[in-house]
Amino acid sequence: MEGRVVVVTGGASGIGRATALACARRGADVMVADVDDEGLDETVAELQAVGVRAEALHTDVADDDAVARLARVTLERLGRADVVMANAGVNATPDDTMRGWQWLADINLYGVVRTIDAFLPHLLERGTGYVIATSSAHGLFGGGGAYTLAKWGVVGYAESVALAHRRAGVGASVFCPGFVSTGLIRSTARILGRTAPPSPPPEALARLPGMITPEDAAEQLLAGLDAGRFLITTSLPERIAGELRARADALESTHWTLPPYFKGDRASLWRRAIGAEPPPDGA
Ligand SMILES: NC(=O)c1ccc[n+]([C@@H]2O[C@H](COP(=O)([O-])OP(=O)(O)OC[C@H]3O[C@@H](n4cnc5c(N)ncnc54)[C@H](O)[C@@H]3O)[C@@H](O)[C@H]2O)c1
Repeated sequence: MEGRVVVVTGGASGIGRATALACARRGADVMVADVDDEGLDETVAELQAVGVRAEALHTDVADDDAVARLARVTLERLGRADVVMANAGVNATPDDTMRGWQWLADINLYGVVRTIDAFLPHLLERGTGYVIATSSAHGLFGGGGAYTLAKWGVVGYAESVALAHRRAGVGASVFCPGFVSTGLIRSTARILGRTAPPSPPPEALARLPGMITPEDAAEQLLAGLDAGRFLITTSLPERIAGELRARADALESTHWTLPPYFKGDRASLWRRAIGAEPPPDGA
């Protein structure tokens, strides 16, 4: 992390803020992006107290232009991007209609795709860089409705990026935390213009199985990155986490190498992956 430039969406609070700070303590300059301007100011103040360069930009990850601007402004202000963490998320839909599910997917799934795709050309051009997509334990097990659908998609997208770009110097990991004591319920209510349900007392939260702090989640994420893991989990029973990691590791060690990944070219990409179409020259 020393001397790197790290970008974190959802950096105004919780896991995003804790990861931004953990990276800063390891010597990284940081750009944080979020829709919560007050939270962004607090994160920047904490980052500056660590002594690194810190920037913030109001960014709605559901908005194409805003995310493209985030990539542009990061390069203008900090010179480059080395690590991009697409982490912004909500945990509820406005209602249980298809439109409600699409609203959540536009943040939790397409927000991740938008963010990573906005920085990929820059990372690939430099032939170095790393992307982290925040999913959830709900991206590995069913049961969470729209949230699971989006988080499951994030795992597949991150795996595609990892396989497509590993030979080009750009790596990817997916982060699947279990319970983390953040303000996710409160921030989602704020975004939806609702009154947040009363929080359970901290002692009750702490008793939830595997509940960890955002700081612990950030440390476990960075330890997973140091260990070169694609799939990084927290709080999952070790047997299940081990089996999931074994699958991810097996995929990593196959001979599979996908041609550079571009939006709109997925069908062709998979035809090439299974050998039904020869790779383009030089891929
Ligand atoms: N807290 C948990 O138990 C848990 C578990 C697994 C995964 N996660 C995931 O971790 C990520 C971070 O959540 P957290 O728990 O730190 O909660 P949090 O509420 O502290 O952080 C989420 C941040 O995302 C921001 N955000 C929401 N919509 C946005 C948008 N459209 N554009 C930009 N920013 C937006 C919010 O303002 C907030 O600051 C989320 O993707 C969440 O789904 C959380």
